[in-house]
Amino acid sequence: MPKILEKYELAPKTHYIKVPAPLIAKHAKAGQFVIVRVGEHGERVPFTIADLDTQEGTITLVVQEVGKTSTAVGALKTGDEIQDILGPLGLASEVENFGKVILMGGGFGNAAIHLLAKALKKAGNQIITIIGARTKELLIMEKELRNVSNETIVMTDDGSYGRQGLVTQPLKELLESDKTITRVIAVGPIPMMRAVSETSRPFGVKTIVSVNPIMVDGTGMCGGCRVTVSGKTFFACVDGPEFDGHQVDFDELVKRTRMYKPSELHAMDQCRMESKIESLPKA
Ligand code: FES
Repeated sequence: MPKILEKYELAPKTHYIKVPAPLIAKHAKAGQFVIVRVGEHGERVPFTIADLDTQEGTITLVVQEVGKTSTAVGALKTGDEIQDILGPLGLASEVENFGKVILMGGGFGNAAIHLLAKALKKAGNQIITIIGARTKELLIMEKELRNVSNETIVMTDDGSYGRQGLVTQPLKELLESDKTITRVIAVGPIPMMRAVSETSRPFGVKTIVSVNPIMVDGTGMCGGCRVTVSGKTFFACVDGPEFDGHQVDFDELVKRTRMYKPSELHAMDQCRMESKIESLPKA
């Protein structure tokens, strides 16, 4: 079982976790993810690969506590064992020299775009990164993203750092003023990716989003991660997770994500009662 090599808190309830996974590190590409199980009977939860080191044979995951298993992962410490890590899964991001690209991250999405930013930079792209968080203390990966971006714009909802407002504000300004932007890529909460797609739609600039529905097997067998894109059914784990944001059925994606909320809250309540995870937040 892989032992956690390094773990620390990037922001409240958001953790940097480095684990040994030499085969995954060797084969993984930007945009792909792994599925982690914490215990023998634990549920399988997908996490985007935020970074990898082929020399070291390690991958880095950034885990935000949003449910039972991610909270259990958050409670682990350096040296603790993870039951298993399956991957790399999903299709790799399209990486070529597109010219000028806007990369957008919201919350945990700031970590998810890091590996992609590195790959796009290496391919010769000019990268403008727009990242956001509710407040300064929740902003993650700013330094790492500045290192691989030509320009970085930081937005916070409360104005405690960078500019106050939503990430779609500078996106709209840039698309209005710079007609050489050829692609927008957004990773973050569903409302953020939806808003980004609606902002770029009138400009006709290709917009890619990385969807994050519930996943179980991660191999296209269970149907849990079904998404509708351009009126057709796809499975995010094998056909995605990246899709054309202008074609994703976000209404359905939101409904399917909410469908599992009561079960998730029930699972967390049970765990809290059994004191399996002391740090579980209140429902
Ligand atoms: Fe089962 Fe995608 S996770 S089909």
